[in-house]
Amino acid sequence: MTDTPQVLFKNRRPGETAFLAEYQRSGGYEGLRKAVKMTPAEVRETVKESGLRGRGGAGFPTGLKWTFFPADQLGEKYLVCNGDEMEPGTYKDRELLLADPHQLIEGMLVAAYALQTPVAYVFIRYAYERCAQNLERAIAEARQAGFLGRDILGSGFACEIFVHRSAGRYICGEETALLNALEGLRANPRSKPPFPAVRGLFGKPTTVNNVETLANVQHIIAHGADWFRGLARTESGAGTKLYGLSGHLNQTPCLEAPIGITLRELIQEHGGGVWQGRKMKACLPGGASTPFMTAGQLDVPMDFDTIEKAGSRFGTGGVTVFDETTCMVEATLNLNNFFARESCGWCTPCRDGLPFVSWLLRQIETGKATMDDLQTLRDQLRNITGTSFCALAQGAVGPIESLLRLFGDEVEDHIKRGRCPLKS
Ligand SMILES: Cc1cc2nc3c(=O)[nH]c(=O)nc-3n(C[C@H](O)[C@H](O)[C@H](O)COP(=O)(O)O)c2cc1C
Ligand code: SF4
Repeated sequence: MTDTPQVLFKNRRPGETAFLAEYQRSGGYEGLRKAVKMTPAEVRETVKESGLRGRGGAGFPTGLKWTFFPADQLGEKYLVCNGDEMEPGTYKDRELLLADPHQLIEGMLVAAYALQTPVAYVFIRYAYERCAQNLERAIAEARQAGFLGRDILGSGFACEIFVHRSAGRYICGEETALLNALEGLRANPRSKPPFPAVRGLFGKPTTVNNVETLANVQHIIAHGADWFRGLARTESGAGTKLYGLSGHLNQTPCLEAPIGITLRELIQEHGGGVWQGRKMKACLPGGASTPFMTAGQLDVPMDFDTIEKAGSRFGTGGVTVFDETTCMVEATLNLNNFFARESCGWCTPCRDGLPFVSWLLRQIETGKATMDDLQTLRDQLRNITGTSFCALAQGAVGPIESLLRLFGDEVEDHIKRGRCPLKS
Protein backbone atom coordinates (compact mmCIF):
# COMPACT_ATOMS: atom_id res chain seq x y z
CA MET A 1 0.00 0.00 0.00
CA THR A 2 1.21 3.52 -0.80
CA ASP A 3 3.19 4.97 2.09
CA THR A 4 2.16 8.62 2.37
CA PRO A 5 3.13 11.13 5.02
CA GLN A 6 -0.06 11.95 6.89
CA VAL A 7 -0.38 15.70 7.31
CA LEU A 8 -4.11 16.38 7.65
CA PHE A 9 -5.11 12.90 8.84
CA LYS A 10 -2.22 12.24 11.22
CA ASN A 11 -4.51 12.33 14.27
CA ARG A 12 -7.33 10.37 12.66
CA ARG A 13 -8.53 7.33 14.65
CA PRO A 14 -11.70 5.33 13.89
CA GLY A 15 -14.70 6.83 15.68
CA GLU A 16 -12.63 9.35 17.67
CA THR A 17 -12.01 13.08 17.56
CA ALA A 18 -8.66 14.63 18.48
CA PHE A 19 -9.14 17.71 20.62
CA LEU A 20 -6.56 20.19 21.93
CA ALA A 21 -4.25 17.98 24.01
CA GLU A 22 -3.80 15.41 21.25
CA TYR A 23 -3.56 18.08 18.58
CA GLN A 24 -0.77 19.86 20.46
CA ARG A 25 1.08 16.58 21.10
CA SER A 26 1.33 16.20 17.33
CA GLY A 27 2.79 19.71 16.85
CA GLY A 28 -0.51 21.58 16.77
CA TYR A 29 -0.41 25.40 16.96
CA GLU A 30 3.34 25.50 16.14
CA GLY A 31 2.43 26.91 12.73
CA LEU A 32 0.44 29.72 14.37
CA ARG A 33 3.28 30.42 16.84
CA LYS A 34 5.66 30.76 13.90
CA ALA A 35 3.22 32.79 11.78
CA VAL A 36 2.67 35.54 14.36
CA LYS A 37 6.44 36.09 14.51
CA MET A 38 6.47 36.68 10.75
CA THR A 39 4.90 39.67 9.01
CA PRO A 40 1.47 39.02 7.42
CA ALA A 41 3.07 39.67 4.02
CA GLU A 42 5.70 36.98 4.68
CA VAL A 43 2.96 34.47 5.57
CA ARG A 44 1.08 35.31 2.36
CA GLU A 45 4.26 35.00 0.31
CA THR A 46 5.10 31.59 1.81
CA VAL A 47 1.61 30.29 0.98
CA LYS A 48 2.01 31.62 -2.58
CA GLU A 49 5.40 29.92 -2.98
CA SER A 50 4.01 26.63 -1.65
CA GLY A 51 1.83 26.17 -4.74
CA LEU A 52 -1.27 25.39 -2.63
CA ARG A 53 -4.35 25.27 -4.84
CA GLY A 54 -7.93 25.51 -3.59
CA ARG A 55 -9.41 22.17 -2.52
CA GLY A 56 -13.04 23.33 -2.93
CA GLY A 57 -13.30 22.26 -6.57
CA ALA A 58 -11.93 24.97 -8.82
CA GLY A 59 -8.26 24.59 -7.85
CA PHE A 60 -7.52 28.32 -7.84
CA PRO A 61 -4.03 29.10 -6.41
CA THR A 62 -4.60 30.18 -2.80
CA GLY A 63 -1.62 32.54 -2.52
CA LEU A 64 -2.65 34.29 -5.72
CA LYS A 65 -6.23 34.68 -4.45
CA TRP A 66 -4.87 36.28 -1.30
CA THR A 67 -2.92 38.87 -3.34
CA PHE A 68 -6.29 40.28 -4.51
CA PHE A 69 -7.31 40.85 -0.89
CA PRO A 70 -6.64 44.29 0.66
CA ALA A 71 -4.90 42.83 3.73
CA ASP A 72 -3.19 46.11 4.62
CA GLN A 73 -6.38 48.14 4.42
CA LEU A 74 -7.84 49.01 7.82
CA GLY A 75 -11.49 48.37 8.63
CA GLU A 76 -14.05 45.60 8.38
CA LYS A 77 -13.03 42.54 6.33
CA TYR A 78 -13.67 38.85 6.61
CA LEU A 79 -12.31 35.37 6.14
CA VAL A 80 -14.99 32.79 5.36
CA CYS A 81 -14.42 29.05 5.39
CA ASN A 82 -16.61 27.09 2.98
CA GLY A 83 -17.74 23.89 4.70
CA ASP A 84 -20.97 23.44 2.75
CA GLU A 85 -19.83 20.23 1.00
CA MET A 86 -23.04 19.14 -0.71
CA GLU A 87 -21.58 17.85 -3.99
CA PRO A 88 -22.50 14.17 -4.35
CA GLY A 89 -19.43 11.96 -3.91
CA THR A 90 -17.57 14.53 -1.81
CA TYR A 91 -17.21 14.01 1.94
CA LYS A 92 -13.54 14.75 2.75
CA ASP A 93 -14.19 17.98 4.72
CA ARG A 94 -16.60 16.08 6.95
CA GLU A 95 -13.98 13.40 7.64
CA LEU A 96 -11.39 16.04 8.50
CA LEU A 97 -13.71 17.86 10.90
CA LEU A 98 -14.85 14.63 12.53
CA ALA A 99 -11.24 13.58 13.11
CA ASP A 100 -9.35 16.76 13.97
CA PRO A 101 -11.24 20.09 14.10
CA HIS A 102 -8.23 22.08 15.38
CA GLN A 103 -6.61 21.53 11.96
CA LEU A 104 -9.16 23.96 10.55
CA ILE A 105 -9.15 26.38 13.48
CA GLU A 106 -5.37 26.78 13.37
CA GLY A 107 -5.38 27.08 9.57
CA MET A 108 -8.04 29.77 9.77
CA LEU A 109 -6.11 31.68 12.43
CA VAL A 110 -2.95 31.68 10.32
CA ALA A 111 -4.96 32.76 7.26
CA ALA A 112 -6.77 35.43 9.29
CA TYR A 113 -3.38 36.73 10.48
CA ALA A 114 -2.01 36.74 6.91
CA LEU A 115 -5.07 38.63 5.66
CA GLN A 116 -5.48 40.70 8.85
CA THR A 117 -9.16 39.81 9.25
CA PRO A 118 -10.39 40.15 12.83
CA VAL A 119 -13.52 38.10 12.16
CA ALA A 120 -13.84 34.71 10.46
CA TYR A 121 -16.81 32.43 9.83
CA VAL A 122 -17.10 28.71 9.19
CA PHE A 123 -20.15 28.15 6.98
CA ILE A 124 -21.02 24.52 7.54
CA ARG A 125 -23.48 22.10 5.99
CA TYR A 126 -26.61 21.74 8.14
CA ALA A 127 -26.29 17.93 8.12
CA TYR A 128 -22.78 18.11 9.63
CA GLU A 129 -24.00 18.82 13.16
CA ARG A 130 -21.27 16.75 14.82
CA CYS A 131 -18.63 18.63 12.85
CA ALA A 132 -20.19 21.94 13.92
CA GLN A 133 -20.12 20.83 17.56
CA ASN A 134 -16.51 19.67 17.22
CA LEU A 135 -15.59 23.08 15.86
CA GLU A 136 -17.40 24.88 18.68
CA ARG A 137 -15.52 22.82 21.25
CA ALA A 138 -12.22 23.41 19.43
CA ILE A 139 -12.89 27.16 19.32
CA ALA A 140 -13.58 27.20 23.08
CA GLU A 141 -10.38 25.23 23.75
CA ALA A 142 -8.32 27.50 21.48
CA ARG A 143 -9.67 30.59 23.23
CA GLN A 144 -8.87 29.14 26.65
CA ALA A 145 -5.30 28.42 25.52
CA GLY A 146 -4.74 31.95 24.14
CA PHE A 147 -4.72 30.93 20.46
CA LEU A 148 -7.92 32.79 19.65
CA GLY A 149 -9.52 36.02 20.85
CA ARG A 150 -7.66 39.16 21.83
CA ASP A 151 -3.88 39.52 21.60
CA ILE A 152 -3.21 36.04 20.19
CA LEU A 153 0.04 34.62 21.69
CA GLY A 154 1.00 38.14 22.74
CA SER A 155 1.20 39.30 19.10
CA GLY A 156 -1.39 42.06 19.39
CA PHE A 157 -3.46 40.33 16.67
CA ALA A 158 -7.11 39.62 17.54
CA CYS A 159 -9.45 37.20 15.81
CA GLU A 160 -12.84 35.65 16.53
CA ILE A 161 -14.22 32.62 14.69
CA PHE A 162 -17.95 31.90 14.46
CA VAL A 163 -19.67 28.73 13.24
CA HIS A 164 -22.73 29.27 11.02
CA ARG A 165 -24.95 26.33 10.06
CA SER A 166 -26.18 26.42 6.47
CA ALA A 167 -29.89 26.14 5.78
CA GLY A 168 -28.94 23.40 3.32
CA ARG A 169 -28.93 23.70 -0.45
CA TYR A 170 -26.11 22.79 -2.85
CA ILE A 171 -26.04 26.36 -4.19
CA CYS A 172 -25.07 27.62 -0.71
CA GLY A 173 -21.57 26.27 -1.49
CA GLU A 174 -21.12 28.69 -4.40
CA GLU A 175 -19.09 31.38 -2.73
CA THR A 176 -21.27 34.40 -3.47
CA ALA A 177 -24.54 32.54 -2.73
CA LEU A 178 -22.85 31.49 0.50
CA LEU A 179 -22.21 35.14 1.38
CA ASN A 180 -25.89 35.95 0.79
CA ALA A 181 -26.90 33.00 2.97
CA LEU A 182 -24.51 34.14 5.70
CA GLU A 183 -26.16 37.57 5.61
CA GLY A 184 -29.58 35.93 6.05
CA LEU A 185 -30.62 36.52 2.42
CA ARG A 186 -31.85 34.03 -0.15
CA ALA A 187 -28.87 32.01 -1.42
CA ASN A 188 -28.74 33.25 -5.00
CA PRO A 189 -25.27 33.81 -6.47
CA ARG A 190 -24.10 37.41 -6.87
CA SER A 191 -22.76 39.00 -10.00
CA LYS A 192 -18.95 38.90 -10.33
CA PRO A 193 -17.31 41.43 -10.57
CA PRO A 194 -17.19 42.84 -7.98
CA PHE A 195 -15.41 39.78 -6.57
CA PRO A 196 -15.68 39.01 -2.85
CA ALA A 197 -12.13 40.33 -2.28
CA VAL A 198 -13.52 43.76 -3.20
CA ARG A 199 -17.13 43.53 -2.03
CA GLY A 200 -17.97 40.40 -0.07
CA LEU A 201 -19.69 39.72 3.23
CA PHE A 202 -21.75 42.74 4.37
CA GLY A 203 -20.25 44.59 1.39
CA LYS A 204 -16.71 44.31 2.81
CA PRO A 205 -13.56 42.62 1.45
CA THR A 206 -13.83 38.86 1.98
CA THR A 207 -11.81 35.78 1.14
CA VAL A 208 -13.64 32.46 0.82
CA ASN A 209 -11.60 29.27 1.11
CA ASN A 210 -12.44 25.61 1.46
CA VAL A 211 -11.99 23.63 4.72
CA GLU A 212 -9.16 21.45 3.36
CA THR A 213 -7.42 24.44 1.76
CA LEU A 214 -7.29 26.32 5.05
CA ALA A 215 -6.27 23.22 7.03
CA ASN A 216 -3.07 23.07 4.97
CA VAL A 217 -1.96 26.62 5.71
CA GLN A 218 -0.40 26.16 9.17
CA HIS A 219 1.59 23.15 7.98
CA ILE A 220 3.03 25.22 5.15
CA ILE A 221 4.13 27.89 7.63
CA ALA A 222 5.50 25.33 10.11
CA HIS A 223 7.48 23.30 7.54
CA GLY A 224 8.02 25.65 4.59
CA ALA A 225 6.92 26.02 0.99
CA ASP A 226 9.52 23.57 -0.41
CA TRP A 227 8.42 20.83 2.01
CA PHE A 228 4.82 21.28 0.85
CA ARG A 229 5.73 21.14 -2.83
CA GLY A 230 7.79 18.04 -2.15
CA LEU A 231 4.77 16.16 -0.82
CA ALA A 232 3.30 15.94 -4.33
CA ARG A 233 4.43 13.41 -6.88
CA THR A 234 4.02 15.66 -9.91
CA GLU A 235 6.15 18.64 -10.91
CA SER A 236 3.15 20.99 -11.10
CA GLY A 237 1.43 19.69 -7.96
CA ALA A 238 1.87 20.58 -4.29
CA GLY A 239 0.84 18.87 -1.07
CA THR A 240 -1.23 15.87 -0.19
CA LYS A 241 -4.95 15.55 -0.89
CA LEU A 242 -7.92 14.00 0.85
CA TYR A 243 -9.55 11.54 -1.55
CA GLY A 244 -13.03 10.21 -0.82
CA LEU A 245 -13.82 6.97 -2.65
CA SER A 246 -17.37 5.86 -3.44
CA GLY A 247 -19.36 3.72 -5.85
CA HIS A 248 -18.78 0.16 -7.08
CA LEU A 249 -15.68 -0.66 -5.04
CA ASN A 250 -14.91 -3.30 -2.45
CA GLN A 251 -13.98 -0.56 0.05
CA THR A 252 -14.84 3.14 0.04
CA PRO A 253 -12.42 4.89 2.40
CA CYS A 254 -11.54 8.55 2.66
CA LEU A 255 -7.75 8.76 2.68
CA GLU A 256 -4.84 11.17 2.49
CA ALA A 257 -2.42 10.56 -0.39
CA PRO A 258 -0.12 12.73 -2.49
CA ILE A 259 -1.28 14.95 -5.30
CA GLY A 260 -0.18 12.85 -8.28
CA ILE A 261 -1.27 9.40 -7.04
CA THR A 262 -2.89 7.53 -9.93
CA LEU A 263 -6.51 6.51 -10.18
CA ARG A 264 -5.30 2.91 -10.45
CA GLU A 265 -3.60 3.10 -7.04
CA LEU A 266 -6.63 4.72 -5.47
CA ILE A 267 -9.02 2.16 -6.93
CA GLN A 268 -6.88 -0.98 -6.59
CA GLU A 269 -4.86 -0.37 -3.42
CA HIS A 270 -7.24 1.77 -1.39
CA GLY A 271 -10.61 0.77 -2.86
CA GLY A 272 -9.71 -2.94 -2.97
CA GLY A 273 -10.65 -3.06 -6.67
CA VAL A 274 -14.03 -2.99 -8.38
CA TRP A 275 -16.66 -4.99 -6.51
CA GLN A 276 -17.98 -8.45 -7.44
CA GLY A 277 -14.88 -9.13 -9.57
CA ARG A 278 -16.12 -6.77 -12.26
CA LYS A 279 -14.22 -4.26 -14.39
CA MET A 280 -14.43 -0.50 -14.13
CA LYS A 281 -16.38 1.22 -16.85
CA ALA A 282 -16.01 4.86 -15.80
CA CYS A 283 -15.35 7.12 -12.86
CA LEU A 284 -15.94 10.67 -11.78
CA PRO A 285 -12.51 11.80 -10.59
CA GLY A 286 -13.52 14.77 -8.46
CA GLY A 287 -17.19 14.94 -7.61
CA ALA A 288 -20.51 14.91 -9.47
CA SER A 289 -19.69 17.94 -11.62
CA THR A 290 -16.51 16.51 -13.18
CA PRO A 291 -16.52 14.79 -16.60
CA PHE A 292 -16.27 10.98 -16.64
CA MET A 293 -12.95 9.23 -17.13
CA THR A 294 -12.60 5.68 -18.44
CA ALA A 295 -10.72 2.48 -17.56
CA GLY A 296 -8.14 3.44 -20.20
CA GLN A 297 -7.17 6.48 -18.11
CA LEU A 298 -6.35 4.71 -14.85
CA ASP A 299 -2.69 5.74 -14.95
CA VAL A 300 -3.36 9.47 -15.16
CA PRO A 301 -1.90 11.16 -12.06
CA MET A 302 -4.45 12.90 -9.86
CA ASP A 303 -3.31 16.47 -10.34
CA PHE A 304 -5.15 19.60 -11.49
CA ASP A 305 -3.19 19.98 -14.74
CA THR A 306 -2.90 16.33 -15.77
CA ILE A 307 -6.58 15.55 -15.15
CA GLU A 308 -7.56 18.60 -17.18
CA LYS A 309 -5.35 17.45 -20.06
CA ALA A 310 -7.12 14.09 -19.85
CA GLY A 311 -10.47 15.83 -20.48
CA SER A 312 -11.86 16.05 -16.95
CA ARG A 313 -11.32 18.06 -13.75
CA PHE A 314 -9.57 17.22 -10.49
CA GLY A 315 -12.46 18.87 -8.62
CA THR A 316 -12.72 17.88 -4.97
CA GLY A 317 -10.92 14.53 -5.17
CA GLY A 318 -14.14 12.61 -4.53
CA VAL A 319 -13.71 9.57 -6.81
CA THR A 320 -16.91 7.69 -7.74
CA VAL A 321 -16.46 4.42 -9.63
CA PHE A 322 -19.01 2.77 -11.96
CA ASP A 323 -18.67 -0.91 -12.87
CA GLU A 324 -19.10 -2.47 -16.33
CA THR A 325 -22.80 -3.23 -15.79
CA THR A 326 -23.68 0.46 -15.33
CA CYS A 327 -25.91 2.13 -17.88
CA MET A 328 -24.05 5.41 -18.37
CA VAL A 329 -27.18 7.19 -19.60
CA GLU A 330 -29.00 6.27 -16.38
CA ALA A 331 -26.00 7.29 -14.25
CA THR A 332 -25.77 10.65 -16.01
CA LEU A 333 -29.51 11.19 -15.71
CA ASN A 334 -29.25 10.55 -11.98
CA LEU A 335 -26.49 13.19 -11.68
CA ASN A 336 -28.39 15.72 -13.78
CA ASN A 337 -31.55 15.24 -11.73
CA PHE A 338 -29.54 16.39 -8.72
CA PHE A 339 -28.31 19.54 -10.46
CA ALA A 340 -31.78 20.33 -11.89
CA ARG A 341 -33.30 19.96 -8.42
CA GLU A 342 -30.63 22.14 -6.81
CA SER A 343 -30.87 24.96 -9.38
CA CYS A 344 -31.59 28.20 -7.55
CA GLY A 345 -33.88 29.24 -10.41
CA TRP A 346 -32.20 32.59 -11.02
CA CYS A 347 -31.20 32.14 -14.68
CA THR A 348 -33.03 30.50 -17.58
CA PRO A 349 -30.31 28.20 -19.02
CA CYS A 350 -30.10 26.42 -15.69
CA ARG A 351 -33.67 26.69 -14.35
CA ASP A 352 -35.32 25.58 -17.62
CA GLY A 353 -32.36 23.96 -19.40
CA LEU A 354 -31.40 21.34 -16.81
CA PRO A 355 -34.92 19.87 -16.36
CA PHE A 356 -35.23 19.68 -20.17
CA VAL A 357 -31.87 17.86 -20.32
CA SER A 358 -33.17 15.42 -17.69
CA TRP A 359 -36.30 14.85 -19.78
CA LEU A 360 -34.19 14.17 -22.90
CA LEU A 361 -31.89 11.77 -21.02
CA ARG A 362 -34.93 9.95 -19.62
CA GLN A 363 -36.36 9.61 -23.14
CA ILE A 364 -33.05 8.08 -24.27
CA GLU A 365 -32.73 5.79 -21.25
CA THR A 366 -36.27 4.44 -21.65
CA GLY A 367 -35.81 3.90 -25.40
CA LYS A 368 -38.35 6.54 -26.45
CA ALA A 369 -35.90 9.02 -28.00
CA THR A 370 -35.18 9.67 -31.69
CA MET A 371 -31.92 10.81 -33.27
CA ASP A 372 -33.50 14.28 -33.40
CA ASP A 373 -33.79 14.19 -29.59
CA LEU A 374 -30.08 13.41 -29.40
CA GLN A 375 -29.36 16.44 -31.57
CA THR A 376 -31.64 18.52 -29.33
CA LEU A 377 -29.61 17.32 -26.33
CA ARG A 378 -26.40 18.49 -28.01
CA ASP A 379 -28.03 21.86 -28.81
CA GLN A 380 -29.18 22.21 -25.21
CA LEU A 381 -25.66 21.61 -23.90
CA ARG A 382 -24.42 24.32 -26.26
CA ASN A 383 -27.16 26.67 -25.01
CA ILE A 384 -26.18 26.14 -21.37
CA THR A 385 -22.40 26.25 -21.82
CA GLY A 386 -21.05 29.68 -20.96
CA THR A 387 -24.49 31.27 -20.58
CA SER A 388 -25.51 30.49 -17.01
CA PHE A 389 -25.13 33.03 -14.22
CA CYS A 390 -22.99 30.77 -12.02
CA ALA A 391 -20.95 27.60 -12.31
CA LEU A 392 -23.68 25.20 -11.10
CA ALA A 393 -25.05 24.67 -14.60
CA GLN A 394 -21.53 24.51 -16.10
CA GLY A 395 -20.73 21.75 -13.64
CA ALA A 396 -23.89 19.88 -14.59
CA VAL A 397 -22.86 19.91 -18.26
CA GLY A 398 -19.48 18.21 -17.55
CA PRO A 399 -20.72 14.62 -17.09
CA ILE A 400 -23.24 14.93 -19.97
CA GLU A 401 -20.66 16.26 -22.41
CA SER A 402 -18.35 13.37 -21.46
CA LEU A 403 -21.23 10.86 -21.77
CA LEU A 404 -21.66 11.89 -25.42
CA ARG A 405 -17.89 12.01 -26.05
CA LEU A 406 -16.90 8.74 -24.36
CA PHE A 407 -20.08 6.64 -24.51
CA GLY A 408 -21.69 7.96 -27.70
CA ASP A 409 -22.21 4.42 -29.08
CA GLU A 410 -24.03 3.34 -25.92
CA VAL A 411 -26.27 6.41 -26.12
CA GLU A 412 -27.11 5.73 -29.78
CA ASP A 413 -27.68 2.05 -29.03
CA HIS A 414 -30.53 3.04 -26.68
CA ILE A 415 -32.17 4.92 -29.53
CA LYS A 416 -31.59 2.27 -32.20
CA ARG A 417 -32.84 -0.62 -30.05
CA GLY A 418 -35.64 1.35 -28.42
CA ARG A 419 -34.48 0.17 -24.98
CA CYS A 420 -31.53 0.18 -22.64
CA PRO A 421 -28.99 -2.28 -24.14
CA LEU A 422 -27.74 -3.20 -20.67
CA LYS A 423 -31.11 -4.31 -19.35
CA SER A 424 -32.70 -7.57 -20.51
C1 LIG B 1 -22.76 25.09 -7.09
C2 LIG B 1 -21.45 25.20 -6.40
C3 LIG B 1 -21.26 24.58 -5.17
C4 LIG B 1 -20.03 24.69 -4.50
N1 LIG B 1 -19.89 24.06 -3.31
C5 LIG B 1 -18.71 24.20 -2.64
C6 LIG B 1 -18.53 23.61 -1.35
O1 LIG B 1 -19.43 22.95 -0.81
N2 LIG B 1 -17.35 23.78 -0.73
C7 LIG B 1 -16.33 24.52 -1.29
O2 LIG B 1 -15.28 24.70 -0.69
N3 LIG B 1 -16.47 25.08 -2.50
C8 LIG B 1 -17.63 24.96 -3.17
N4 LIG B 1 -17.77 25.57 -4.39
C9 LIG B 1 -16.66 26.41 -4.88
C10 LIG B 1 -16.70 27.79 -4.22
O3 LIG B 1 -17.53 28.65 -5.01
C11 LIG B 1 -15.32 28.42 -4.09
O4 LIG B 1 -14.68 28.36 -5.34
C12 LIG B 1 -14.45 27.74 -3.06
O5 LIG B 1 -15.08 27.70 -1.80
C13 LIG B 1 -13.14 28.51 -2.92
O6 LIG B 1 -12.28 27.86 -2.02
P1 LIG B 1 -10.86 27.29 -2.45
O7 LIG B 1 -10.23 28.32 -3.34
O8 LIG B 1 -10.17 27.10 -1.18
O9 LIG B 1 -11.13 26.02 -3.20
C14 LIG B 1 -18.98 25.45 -5.08
C15 LIG B 1 -19.17 26.06 -6.33
C16 LIG B 1 -20.38 25.93 -6.98
C17 LIG B 1 -20.56 26.59 -8.31
S1 SF4 C 1 -26.69 28.59 -12.96
FE1 SF4 C 1 -28.28 30.19 -12.64
S2 SF4 C 1 -30.15 29.15 -11.89
FE2 SF4 C 1 -28.40 27.72 -11.78
S3 SF4 C 1 -27.77 27.88 -9.68
FE3 SF4 C 1 -26.46 29.30 -10.85
S4 SF4 C 1 -27.56 31.27 -10.83
FE4 SF4 C 1 -28.99 29.70 -10.10
